[in-house]
Amino acid sequence: MSGTEAVMQAVRVAQYNSKKRKIVRFCGSYHGFWGEVQPGVGNPMPARDTLTLADMSPLALEVLRTRRDIACVLINPLQALHPNRAAPADSGLLDSSRHASFEREAYTQYLHEIRRICTERGIALIFDEVFLGFRIARGGAQEYFGVQADLVTYGKTLGGGFPVGVVCGKARWMRRFREDAPADICFARGTFNAHPTVVAAMHAFLKRLDMPEVDAVYQGLDERWRLRLALFNARMDEAKVPVRAAGFSSVWTILYGRPNRYNWMLQYYLRAEGLLLSWVGTGRLIFQAGLSDADFDDICARFVRATCSMQDDGFFWCGDAVTDRDLRRDITRELVVARLGRLWPGRSLPALQQQSTR
Ligand SMILES: Cc1ncc(COP(=O)(O)O)c(C=O)c1O
Repeated sequence: MSGTEAVMQAVRVAQYNSKKRKIVRFCGSYHGFWGEVQPGVGNPMPARDTLTLADMSPLALEVLRTRRDIACVLINPLQALHPNRAAPADSGLLDSSRHASFEREAYTQYLHEIRRICTERGIALIFDEVFLGFRIARGGAQEYFGVQADLVTYGKTLGGGFPVGVVCGKARWMRRFREDAPADICFARGTFNAHPTVVAAMHAFLKRLDMPEVDAVYQGLDERWRLRLALFNARMDEAKVPVRAAGFSSVWTILYGRPNRYNWMLQYYLRAEGLLLSWVGTGRLIFQAGLSDADFDDICARFVRATCSMQDDGFFWCGDAVTDRDLRRDITRELVVARLGRLWPGRSLPALQQQSTR
């Protein structure tokens, strides 16, 4: 199973056991590419059973309190870093308006409230820990926020690099048959389910969790990453570059302090310094949770060199009076001109620009 399939399975057992059909997810959260949990751009079909609610909103809580058809609520705790926004990608770096910050207390309270409502209303609370499981605490987001979910999905690191997706949870929610109705079952099948190599990798991973040196990584983890974040931002400040980071434990996102449409170029400057970012371009940094201080220091030094080079080359400057709004307007205009250019090939640029401003 993959993480996507683990989420599909968790939702299915929640629907089966609650006898309800609606799925609640929060705006901007990622739960894999399955259509029902990925409505909108990139999914050609409407997600009929999914309600996408505003994250950290009292109105969302009201929906949970009052509707009778909700089977489950999906939580991706990474959302706490940028509620209601998707993970940063290069397209979001065409201006500097993106912001992010992690308010642990507020998010903890919100999760506790959701937990309370789900218990009252017979809704399955699903923590999707595919990304953060074993990263932010040994017991994942459940331990970190002090909330017990009904169902939890894991993936990624648990398989130690092998393809993996896991669903676990309370017996009441994991049931896939009814004693009094033997034909009424809930399917959970797949050629690769319980694949021996993957199961062996998970076993090795879980055994390592009990080793003292791995346990040591979890001691003071949150504090260590908070200090590192402060240190990183102080070094950016010292270097006088308009780059800062916001972070949730060892997952960070880069923020830009000055309107600029070339932020996405930072990834190439970083690459020149030997730092290769994941596919989400310049927006996100996912550190190894057990990174040493020496390696962290080395990364900071490379970051300083990359940002200073980018600044020296003039790519942090877009004009003194330019605002993010101006940049977005310019980009929209350019997109329209490019589109018109495809519709009417051969027309001159000024003519097309005139057309786009009409
Ligand atoms: C929170 C979360 N859920 C589900 C998935 C989907 O997992 P997979 O890519 O293994 O299908 C991901 C993948 O990034 C994820 O971050």
